[in-house]
Amino acid sequence: MKETKAHMISFELLAIFLAVFCSVFLCVEAQSQDADVMLALKKSLNVPQSLGWSDTDPCNWNHVGCSRDRRITRIQIGHQGLTGTLPPNLQNLTALEVLELQYNNISGPLPSLNGLSSLQEVLLFDNQFESIPSDFFTGMSSLETVDIDNNPFSDWEIPESLKDATLLRSFSANAANIKGKIPDFFNADVFSSLKSLHLAGNNLEGGLPASFGGMQIQSLWLNGQKSMLFGSIDVIQKMTSLQDVSLSRNNFSGPLTDFSGLKDLQNVSLRDNMLTGPVPASLLSLPSLKVVNLTNNMLQGPLPVFKAGVTVDMSKGSNRFCLPSPGNCDPRVNTLLSIVELMGYPQSFADSWNGNDPCQDWIGIICNDENITVVYFQKMGLTGTISPAFASLPSLRRIILADNNLTGKDKSSSPPSGAPSSGSSPTDTGGKKSSTHVGVIVLAVIGSLFVVCLFGSIVFCWFRMKRKWLSCHPCHSGSDNESMKVTVAGSSVSIGAVSEAQRREAGDIQMVEAGNVIISIQVLRTVTENFSEKNILGQGEGKSSIETRIAGTFGYLAPKYAIAGSVTTKVDLYSFGVILMELITGRKALDETQSEDSMHLETWFRRIFINEDTFRKAIDPTIELNEETLASIHTVAELAGHCCARKPHQRPDMGRVVNVLSSLVELWKPSDQIQNSEDVSDIDLDMSLPQAQRKWQTY
Ligand SMILES: *[C@@H]1O[C@H](CO)[C@@H](O)[C@H](O)[C@H]1NC(C)=O
Ligand SMILES: *[C@@H]1O[C@H](CO)[C@@H](O)[C@H](O)[C@H]1NC(C)=O
Ligand SMILES: *[C@@H]1O[C@H](CO)[C@@H](O)[C@H](O)[C@H]1NC(C)=O
Ligand SMILES: *[C@@H]1O[C@H](CO)[C@@H](O)[C@H](O)[C@H]1NC(C)=O
Ligand SMILES: *[C@@H]1O[C@H](CO)[C@@H](O)[C@H](O)[C@H]1NC(C)=O
Ligand SMILES: *[C@@H]1O[C@H](CO)[C@@H](O)[C@H](O)[C@H]1NC(C)=O
Ligand SMILES: *[C@@H]1O[C@H](CO)[C@@H](O)[C@H](O)[C@H]1NC(C)=O
Repeated sequence: MKETKAHMISFELLAIFLAVFCSVFLCVEAQSQDADVMLALKKSLNVPQSLGWSDTDPCNWNHVGCSRDRRITRIQIGHQGLTGTLPPNLQNLTALEVLELQYNNISGPLPSLNGLSSLQEVLLFDNQFESIPSDFFTGMSSLETVDIDNNPFSDWEIPESLKDATLLRSFSANAANIKGKIPDFFNADVFSSLKSLHLAGNNLEGGLPASFGGMQIQSLWLNGQKSMLFGSIDVIQKMTSLQDVSLSRNNFSGPLTDFSGLKDLQNVSLRDNMLTGPVPASLLSLPSLKVVNLTNNMLQGPLPVFKAGVTVDMSKGSNRFCLPSPGNCDPRVNTLLSIVELMGYPQSFADSWNGNDPCQDWIGIICNDENITVVYFQKMGLTGTISPAFASLPSLRRIILADNNLTGKDKSSSPPSGAPSSGSSPTDTGGKKSSTHVGVIVLAVIGSLFVVCLFGSIVFCWFRMKRKWLSCHPCHSGSDNESMKVTVAGSSVSIGAVSEAQRREAGDIQMVEAGNVIISIQVLRTVTENFSEKNILGQGEGKSSIETRIAGTFGYLAPKYAIAGSVTTKVDLYSFGVILMELITGRKALDETQSEDSMHLETWFRRIFINEDTFRKAIDPTIELNEETLASIHTVAELAGHCCARKPHQRPDMGRVVNVLSSLVELWKPSDQIQNSEDVSDIDLDMSLPQAQRKWQTY
């Protein structure tokens, strides 16, 4: 027993002896290696005498720290006026925990610190380092703080090796010539402890990575990228730990985000970007807010009012606030802003929509005096959703949204065939209810547009037989981007008409393309008596114009009825009726060559319509009459008369007009299988209507 114990003791002693021997031996070896590195460092940094680095043991040097086993753990020689370079074997200091070389003039390449797994802090800012190797951070599994600001590094990208530093709390590399995109390994999974990310004044490009969302970053600086970050700042709303964020001097666009989740946000600098839309209440009401910089953007809506105590940098002139002082914007401004809200507040509008009066040359807005009558957003690269707020513009007569990527539907609901494909879903203000609403509106618009447009072309086909200069293409529900093609009649149709109509030459005839109906300018000229103002219909009853008339023919009125349902409705219906009469009879609205009592088409039409015989004779002789066409013409004539009822309240509503025309479309329709306009345009222009009809019916 005793023997065994003694045995055990000696065994233990041996183990301890071995351990001590080994560690001392290894330690001595490591110590001597550390000393070699420190001597190399002293030499290559031209360390002055005054620093007190003369002892043979570096652990006795000033600003150098060692562990108990006399390994070098700290080098803290910031602010020492050092020049020179770093030795390449710095990475042999494997026990190093802190490396502080800031505020010196050290130049040359940074050596790799690959493998310094104890290193916790690296401060190298304000030096002249010329490059940083891509494996610099490899194996730095203890790294918490990096500051390498203000070094003239040659272009570099944040290396993947940084991912080894999973304990990283603060990474600062301002003015460090970083290029490329912000890597998406900046995410909550890799860097769960990252509190501070400062990358200002670099050459970063692209947008904010979505991976920022959910990170616990408190301080984010990305301001002043020479190559400009761009895109939306939306991901900020998911960075709920933010206290301090600077994105200034970039090219960020779109609206400010929802700040309501950023309860600790103190300082936010967004100046010198291209941000649009109003300043959200969620920012104004943040309790922790201290400093806000918003100067030099294109912010819209009312001038924001921050709480007392908040330092605000927001020179008024450089934004697009409706008024120079706090106060509500004009209701028209509010409505237009809510319309473009669902389109993400496009820059083109924000840029042009200055002041508080949309009738002062605002892009896309056409007014009659102070009333907005036309919203002309054709081909503006718009995406997003069509807003129900259009309904709040009481005098709106036309909405032109052609050639954009707008949608009326939420992704979640199944799109109707022929409706535009869905893009982004409506924002929170729209909500589910309004998106359904919009869906209904869009369906109505497309539906009635299709019906009336188709009818318009049928009627125009009759017209064409008399006047050769009309080419005839039936409208079709078409492919996605065509279904909202609501184009404008000729540019020379003045009075509120729009200048950018699409014209083209067809032989020597100038054509206007309106949807898929192509009308020669000559037709328009004739119909409107050379666009003469005296020929404006319904002028006594309001502000109807030639434009309305022509537009009416092609159904362009439909969107307005479906959406705005306004005061002008009845007036426009009157005009619409007169055009139907013109189409049936081939006569002008006002024909001075006729006797006085037949001069006005509408009065004359009313008279001849009473008698079947006179009516038959009055029909445009170029129309081939048979049972079928006559019956249809009768229906249209009746509708025309109804539309032109003396008393506005007796006129039908557009719903009824569309119903009547739909029934005709049933009869005449080429069927909605016509998806391919090329097939349809096969129709020979000299074909008679019944021939054309047969051709359509075969589709
Ligand atoms: C020390 O550093 C030098 C240069 O980086 C390297 O060649 C050498 O292998 C290192 N020594 C040890 C023991 O790691
Ligand atoms: C660094 O060196 C430059 C000249 O190379 C000198 O102008 C500058 O003052 C120095 N800075 C410091 C902090 O020593
Ligand atoms: C916000 O700015 C104020 C004033 O400049 C400053 O005192 C404060 O430390 C800043 N807060 C943060 C979180 O950076
Ligand atoms: C800013 O972004 C817009 C697109 O949003 C782009 O057209 C413009 O060229 C950019 N400006 C600069 C200076 O990069
Ligand atoms: C923000 O505005 C304050 C007050 O005008 C100013 O002191 C500060 O420098 C600005 N910060 C930025 C990043 O623009
Ligand atoms: C503008 O619209 C209002 C009704 O919305 C109407 O009373 C007014 O007469 C219109 N003004 C013009 C110039 O059309
Ligand atoms: C609409 O979006 C599609 C794909 O998203 C794109 O190919 C097309 O060019 C866009 N059209 C317009 C007019 O912006």
